[in-house]
Amino acid sequence: MKISVLGTGYVGLVTGVCLAEKGHQVSCVDIDADKVQKTNLGIPIIHEEGLGVLLKKNIGGRFSATADLRQAVLNSDLSIIAVGTPFNGDEIDLGYIQEVSKQVGTALREKAAYHVVVVKSTVVPGTTQEVVLPLLEKFSGKKAGAEFGLGMNPEFLREGVAVEDFMAPDRIVLGGIDERTLDVLEDLYRVFDGVDKVRTTPKTAEMIKYTANALLATMISFSNEIGNLCAGLGDIDVVDVMRAVHLDKRLCPIMADGRRIVPQFTTYIEAGCGFGGSCFPKDVKALIAHGQKAGQPMPLLQSVIRVNEQQPRKVIEILNRQFATLKNLRLAVLGLAFKPGTDDMRESPAIPIVKELLAAGARIRAFDPVAKAEAEKLFGASRIAYCERLEDALDGAEAVILLTRWEEFKRLPGLLSGREPPPLVVDGRRMIDKKSLPRYTGIGI
Ligand code: UGA
Repeated sequence: MKISVLGTGYVGLVTGVCLAEKGHQVSCVDIDADKVQKTNLGIPIIHEEGLGVLLKKNIGGRFSATADLRQAVLNSDLSIIAVGTPFNGDEIDLGYIQEVSKQVGTALREKAAYHVVVVKSTVVPGTTQEVVLPLLEKFSGKKAGAEFGLGMNPEFLREGVAVEDFMAPDRIVLGGIDERTLDVLEDLYRVFDGVDKVRTTPKTAEMIKYTANALLATMISFSNEIGNLCAGLGDIDVVDVMRAVHLDKRLCPIMADGRRIVPQFTTYIEAGCGFGGSCFPKDVKALIAHGQKAGQPMPLLQSVIRVNEQQPRKVIEILNRQFATLKNLRLAVLGLAFKPGTDDMRESPAIPIVKELLAAGARIRAFDPVAKAEAEKLFGASRIAYCERLEDALDGAEAVILLTRWEEFKRLPGLLSGREPPPLVVDGRRMIDKKSLPRYTGIGI
C-alpha cells in the first residue's frame, strides 16, 4: 500500500520506517526541512534502538521523507496523521491536528480516487469525528464515508523500545467510521499476522489509548502512595510488600508445572520517584480536562497527577532528614532521563529534584549514560559537573541519589565497596538490594 505519514516526530518516524520495513511504500512528511534532509540521509532524528538500521535499509527504496504534504497525499492511498498533541495547561492542544486536517482536505480536493485518512496521534475521544472529519469535508468538498474514509489507530509504543513494540505489537486497535475504512486498515496491518486486532469506532479507539495509559499511571501513583505510607509508618519496606502483592495468582499466574508467569505489568506496581515522559503526564491531564468539559469530574486521576507531582520531593525530604544542610553537600545524581533507554528528559522527576538541590546550594556531579546533552540544555553547563563515567560521578560524594532505573547502576555496591566513610545512597527507583550497601535508604523504606 502507498502511505503518507504526516508528522515525522517520534511516532511518525517509527511508524513510517516500520511500515516500509513491512513492505509498504512510505513517504514521511514534515514542515521542518532540516528533519526531512537528515531523514533522507538516513540519520534518525531521535535516539531509538534499531531505528537507524531500518531507516538506512529502506531509504531510497520503500521509504523517503518530504516537505511536500500535497504531493505525498496525492501519491498515496492512505494518510496517517502523527502530529503532536501537547497539553496547553488547560486542555489538549489540537492546533497541529486541525492544521494538518485542513491541508489534507485541500489536497484531497484534487484527488479523484478514494483515500483513507487515519489519526494516529493521541487525541481525546470524539476528536476524529468531531474535529478532523468536518475539516476534511470542508476543505476537500467531499463526503466522509463516500469519497474518503476516516479512521483512528492509536499507537502503543514505549520510548526506547518503540521499534520492537511496532514490529511485534501486542494489539492493533482499528477505529473506523465505516466498514470500508476498517477493511482498508485491516489491509494495512495484514502483514502483522496473528496479532489481536480490535475493530471499533474512532471514539472508542481514542478512549482505549487514554485508558491504557491512565491505568499504568494510576498503578504507579498507587504504588508510590503505598510506599510513602510504608516509609511514614516505619519498619516496613514497600519492596517486601509489593513482592508479596505480586504473588497474587491473578497478577502472576501459576502455570501447571508450578512456575510463575511474571507479566511486565508488575513493574508498574512498584514504588519510585514518579513517572514522567511525553505521554503519561500529558495524557492523564488531557483526559481529566476532557472529562471536566463533559461534566464528568475524575477525582481518582486528579489524585494520580497530584501524587506524581509530589513524589520527586520525597527524595529531597530523605536528604533533609539525613543531613543538617544541603548547602555544599557533595552529591552524585545518577540518572537524568525520565526512564532508561532514552535521552528524553521531558517531565523527568530528575528536573524538579536537581533544580531544588541547586537552589539549596548542593554541589552536584551527575551521570546519565545518554542524557548528558539534554541535561546541559535544561540546567546549563556551569552549575553541574556532568561526568562521562559512573565512577567519576561518585568521586568524593557524601550522598548518591539514584533517579533512573539504568541497569548500569546495579554496579553501585561494587564501586562503593570499601569506601570510608560510605556515602548515603538514596534509591529513588528501589533497584539496588538494600543489604548490599552499608548506608542505604530510598523511596518507601
Ligand atoms: C507509555 C506507555 O507505556 C506506552 O504503552 C504508550 O504507547 C506511550 O506511553 C505513549 O502514549 O506513547 P512511555 O512513556 O515510553 O510509554 O514509557 P513507560 O515505559 O511506560 O514509562 C512511563 C513512565 O513511567 C516513566 O517515567 C517510567 O519511569 C515510569 N515507570 C515505568 C515507572 O515508574 N515504573 C515502571 O515500572 C515503568
